[in-house]
Amino acid sequence: MPIPAASTSGTRTAATISRARRAGDTPPIVPSRAAEVPDDADGARGSDNGTVSAPTTTPVLPPLRIGPLTIDTPVELAPMAGVTNAAFRRLCREAGSGLYVAEMVTSRALVERTPESMRIIEHDPSERPRSVQVYGVDPATVGAAVHLIASEDRADHIDLNFGCPAPKVTRRGGGAVLPWKSELFRGILTAAVAAARPYGVPVTVKMRKGIDDDHLTYLEAGLVAQDLGVAAVALHGRTAAQHYSGQADWEAIARLKEAVTDIPVLGNGDIWSAEDALEMVRQTGCDGVVVGRGCQGRPWLFADLQAAFNGSDVRIRPGLREVALTIRRHGELMVEHFGEELKAMRELRKHMAWYFKGYPVGGAQRQALAMVSTMAELDDLLGALDLDQPYPGEAAEGQRGRAGSPKRPVLPEGWLDSRELSDDFRRQLHEAELSISGG
Ligand SMILES: Cc1cc2nc3c(=O)[nH]c(=O)nc-3n(C[C@H](O)[C@H](O)[C@H](O)COP(=O)(O)O)c2cc1C
Repeated sequence: MPIPAASTSGTRTAATISRARRAGDTPPIVPSRAAEVPDDADGARGSDNGTVSAPTTTPVLPPLRIGPLTIDTPVELAPMAGVTNAAFRRLCREAGSGLYVAEMVTSRALVERTPESMRIIEHDPSERPRSVQVYGVDPATVGAAVHLIASEDRADHIDLNFGCPAPKVTRRGGGAVLPWKSELFRGILTAAVAAARPYGVPVTVKMRKGIDDDHLTYLEAGLVAQDLGVAAVALHGRTAAQHYSGQADWEAIARLKEAVTDIPVLGNGDIWSAEDALEMVRQTGCDGVVVGRGCQGRPWLFADLQAAFNGSDVRIRPGLREVALTIRRHGELMVEHFGEELKAMRELRKHMAWYFKGYPVGGAQRQALAMVSTMAELDDLLGALDLDQPYPGEAAEGQRGRAGSPKRPVLPEGWLDSRELSDDFRRQLHEAELSISGG
């Protein structure tokens, strides 16, 4: 059973989406009837074709320039393993403009051309710029992976992961704990930039503050990145030890912005709304923001961000019907991406709790949706919801996704003893590369 159109003033929105879907078009996520469209002429407006028209107000920031790329809205979708596949990125792009980074891919898996790594760097033909994130600990392997991507024209932007705090990564000296080894960090950046440069593909760095409060690396790493030809740096204002606990330190982003003056500095951590993004820019002076968990189950946040950076106060406030339509669209894009319904639905399941945060959806319905296996079942379950429920306000806002408590980082033996690489570890670098994906 398809999701029925609303019988109230929201009809135009729902009908617009289903008409577009029948025609095989890409239905945009549109402001719901509860969206606060200002009466004055300054704000961006929801138009009859369901798009948000260009505002006439002054943008908050100039476009973001990453090497040769110009990103009109200085917003990046944070790479998130298991989340930011081509389907989710497209859903976000349908809401607003920005730079949408794929899930991280390990350099070794790429060099081996594993089917999973090739899927991760796949892009929808309409996706521009195409952005991927590479993880690795061995300069030669990272260089080879970057060469593969750039020389085969598989992406327009390559981000390097120095932010992952997962034990499977840090125990091999990778992710957030790598910049501690200055020479290794320099080696990876040098290899990546050299491999990408002939193809005009910019390389950026995404990092955390450091290993823990006693082993901070971000200021040095930012300056090294700038010196070695990296096109932008993004800082998640937490240490590896913090994982996702506590609050991101925006003060550190401000300090990085003061130190790194020649390339854009992007701020990351705890942006849950467009207002948070504006506040981060105000507090830190950063050139753009990177948004992760805040858009899990809320791809329309990118419409809010675009509006906010354009100086408009229009915000999306979806009722349950629009949420259901978005989930359906997400499902459709997942099937297209994975080419297999069950796999697509399995991947969609994890998004359900995020989508319904704050909405009055009963436990049994949530559970059934979190076990969905086919598109027909998805339609039935969504159609059975009380779709006239309005936007629930605060209950749907604020923190979402991964949280937890601090954890002592798992490190290779003797890692903290010196900033230099031990001969032992140097010999093992190639083996330390992971061939699995994930972040
Ligand atoms: C499920 C999940 C997967 C993630 N995967 C990656 C990844 O592949 N690469 C990366 O650099 N960061 C990864 N991160 C970290 C995010 O990119 C981001 O830095 C972090 O969530 C902080 O931003 P936020 O507060 O906006 O969520 C991941 C985070 C989550 C929650």
